[in-house]
Formats: sequence, structure tokens, C-alpha cells
Amino acid sequence: MNEPLVLGIETSCDETGVGIVRGTTLLADAIASSVEEHARFGGVVPEVASRAHLEAMVPTIERACAQAGVLLADIDGIAVTAGPGLSGALLVGTASAKALALGLRVPLFAVNHLAGHVVVDELEHGPLPPAAVGLLVSGGHSSLLLVHDDAQDITLLGATLDDAAGEAFDKVARLLGLPFPGGPWIDRSAREGDAAAIAFPRGLSASHDMTEHRYDFSFSGLKTAVARWVKAQQAAGSAISVPDVAASFQEAVVDVLTRKAVLACTEQGADHLVIGGGVAANSRLRALASQRCEAAGITLRIPSPALCTDNGAMIAALGAKLMRQGAAPSALGFPTLSVLPVSTVLMK
Ligand code: KG4
Ligand code: ZN
Repeated sequence: MNEPLVLGIETSCDETGVGIVRGTTLLADAIASSVEEHARFGGVVPEVASRAHLEAMVPTIERACAQAGVLLADIDGIAVTAGPGLSGALLVGTASAKALALGLRVPLFAVNHLAGHVVVDELEHGPLPPAAVGLLVSGGHSSLLLVHDDAQDITLLGATLDDAAGEAFDKVARLLGLPFPGGPWIDRSAREGDAAAIAFPRGLSASHDMTEHRYDFSFSGLKTAVARWVKAQQAAGSAISVPDVAASFQEAVVDVLTRKAVLACTEQGADHLVIGGGVAANSRLRALASQRCEAAGITLRIPSPALCTDNGAMIAALGAKLMRQGAAPSALGFPTLSVLPVSTVLMK
């Protein structure tokens, strides 16, 4: 018997994503990004993102259907990101999803973006284990999650107190004169540098912080430390090695991310770590996570880069999973919540 065909819509930030899955099989993952429109501002401008979603929505839906070789009339269910994310951006996606669900007379699932980042891994690496830790690192979030009961039960273990990991990469890149988004540039530059050249601080890693903020992150102090170091070098008339600064900064970020993620796995009894979000593309994060997971007997799962960054397939994957689990669809009046807690995987 054919499993339900689910279309997922993602518009929480600057990517208009429309994915189509049948069960756990990925059929289409169409994306339109407004990232270039934000580049000159050095960060995502919400109003610009919302307008871009509105323009991209219908063409992206059409592209996804063509890629999957299906008609809208074939769709059995719609899933959409209801939060967390930028309010205006979420409104475009949810309004579109409501219209589609009404027009097609199919159930609608208003889901949590963060849960989608974890569940998408099933499309490539099979069912999730009974317990896993999720490390989500992107321009918008840096969170550690405990994922239980086939993703029906998700607990927030910790999150960043200030900047998201990707935001720190972007801000430090800007400081070094590298283009936006800066993460890939820092990654590339760092390969030529010495990660031990400069001892940058590891946020929230001192013993008192490990009591109060065991699974939390903080990157704004690190960003300030890099800015101060660069200024001091300039004031002294010393040359700055961009690769050394990039490598040392990157090491400070991925050292804390991987250390706390492995600690969470060990302490929470999870033998799998799933990493998602744009920063999961970072080559040093992948290398260090794999080294530390192996040493701790933890299985590391990282989706391929296109499924790590924001996309519609992750929302479709979560919608299909909820349908398989027999979840009741959301009532059509559901709101968007820019701070939707991760414990709410599906809105009523
Ligand atoms: O998930 P994503 O595409 O969008 C959201 O922010 O939700 O993540 C984008 C973030 C940006 O901050 C970008 O600089 C960062 O991911 N990023 C990276 C790398 N590739 C993308 N950061 C570090 N190393 C990379 N290779
Ligand atoms: Zn995301």
C-alpha cells in the first residue's frame, strides 16, 4: 500500500522551502533563497524575507511538484512550519499552507521547525533510535535537544544565551572582511590557519557555568574577544593572519559545541547524536564531532548539507511521520509562534 504523499512548507527565515515525501522517501526538495537580498545588510531583514517568500511560494510549490512528478491533487497531507522563526515569514508559509489544505481538502499539520531539523535525518539514515540528542546549529539557533519516543517527546536541554553559532560565524567573518554569510568563508580560510594560534575563550565552560548552564551556549563573549584581539593587533601595527584568526575562532566554537553535545548524550543515556542546521556543514565541526563521538561510543548522524540547512523536505518528513503515528491534524485556526517551544512538536 502506498504511504501518504506529504507536501511540507518551510518559511521560518530566508529560505522558501517546499519538500514532498512519500513515507520516508524524499521525492522533491525545492528551495528559493533570499540570502543575496540580505547580504548588504550583513543579516536577514525580516520584511525583505517575508516579501521574498510571498513571491517565491507558488513557483516553488510548482517546482516541487514537477520534481516529484506529482500533481497537487495527489497530495494527501500538508505540513508547515508554525514556529520558531520570523513572524512575518512564518505568516506567509502558514497562510499558504492553510489555503492549500482547504483547497485540496487534506489534513494540515502545523509543526515545529526544530523537530523538523532532527526528523529529516530519517530520510537518509533510517528510523531514529529510542533516544537521541539533537544539536541544532544555524544562523538562527543553537540548541541541544533530547529526542524521545520517535520524536513525539522533545525536551530542550540547552540553548544559546545570546548569539546563535552561525550568527557568530557571520559576525566574525564581517569583522575579518569576509562576505556574508560568513560561515563557509571562515571554514575555508581556517583550513590554511593554525587553530592553536590564538587562545580564544570557550563560552560557558568554566566550572560554575557548567553547574548553572551545563548545556547552554554563549558566543557573544567570543565574538567580542575576536574583535578586541583584531583591534589590538591593528593598534600595534601588527599584521593579522585571517586564516589563524578564522581557525582559532572556529576551534573555540566547535570545541564547546561538540564537548557539550557528547556530554549530553552520555549523561542523558542517548547513544545517537544528530546534528542539523547550516553550521553542520562546517568541516571542522564534522571532524571533531566524529572524533569525539567515536571515542565516547556514540553514533553520529548528520544529514547531507542540503537537508541540514532550512528546507521543505524536513517539514514534509515530520508531517509524514506524524501521519504515520496517527496524530490528529491541527485546527485551521492555529497561529504562528515565533518562539514556539520545542516541546510542542505539533500544534493542536
Ligand atoms: O540553517 P541555515 O541555512 O539558516 C538558518 O540560519 O536558519 O544556516 C545558515 C548559517 C549561517 O550563519 C552560515 O554562516 C552558517 O549557517 N554556515 C556555516 C557553514 N555553512 C553555513 N557556518 C560554519 N561553517 C560552514 N561551513
Ligand atoms: Zn533552521
